[in-house]
Amino acid sequence: MSEIPKDLLDSFRPPAFPGSFFLSFEGIEGAGKSTQLKHAKEFLENKGFRVLVLREPGGTSFGEKLRKSILESKEPINPLAEAHLFCSSRAQLLQEVTLKELNNPGTIVILDRYLDSTIAYQGKARNLGTKTVLELHKHFPLNLVPHMTIYIKISLETSHNRQKMRNAPKDYFESQGDDFYKLLISGYEEAAALFPKRISIIDGEKSFDEVKEQISNQLEALIQSREEVLK
Ligand SMILES: Nc1ncnc2c1ncn2[C@@H]1O[C@H](COP(=O)(O)OP(=O)(O)OP(=O)(O)O)[C@@H](O)[C@H]1O
Ligand SMILES: [Mg+2]
Repeated sequence: MSEIPKDLLDSFRPPAFPGSFFLSFEGIEGAGKSTQLKHAKEFLENKGFRVLVLREPGGTSFGEKLRKSILESKEPINPLAEAHLFCSSRAQLLQEVTLKELNNPGTIVILDRYLDSTIAYQGKARNLGTKTVLELHKHFPLNLVPHMTIYIKISLETSHNRQKMRNAPKDYFESQGDDFYKLLISGYEEAAALFPKRISIIDGEKSFDEVKEQISNQLEALIQSREEVLK
């Protein structure tokens, strides 16, 4: 694993609004992020929170244009250019939506992919290095990380099988080979090792209901711990 200086790691922190939560869901294609996000939203709404689910890249009109330019690209994009595009979309979404929403107590913003996807995709798979990706994010507002990240971990084989079942046209990233996916998995592993308090690893090989239960337990624990702090 690459050496990351402690002061760089320390520049990352969750937003400091009391009574609201910032969450992200991570994992390779087919991990079950979108499926489980729906359940998590319902679970949190039943607890009285107002829940907003956003996706990256995109979520703002500027970001959606960037999303299109990345995911529909037929030519290879330079890895640093790719990382900057994701950062641009992310900074815009943070300023325009996420921070404004989190300023309302009782709100939860959930992102379908965030910083750890950039570590895995651009840092590892595109070989920019985790340190470069973190350096790109060290200034406000990009240094804001979720209170909790749900990393749904599956194997390469499971990802392939689920993508086959889904039978949708492949986008820019999905048309990559096995080596790419192996690198992605190792990128997520590195992120989880660098941010062990923030990232909860969920076994995504299990059934829908078992994955759902693991995630609900983690969310419950987060809410309880924050309620203790806010007392
Ligand atoms: N625990 C599970 N067991 C079996 N199949 C699952 C499980 N979770 C999700 N699936 C199936 O795998 C496929 C991919 O799930 P989903 O779209 O939620 O993944 P994703 O992580 O959002 O993927 P992507 O990154 O491509 O958006 C879907 O067809 C879904 O029904
Ligand atoms: Mg999805």
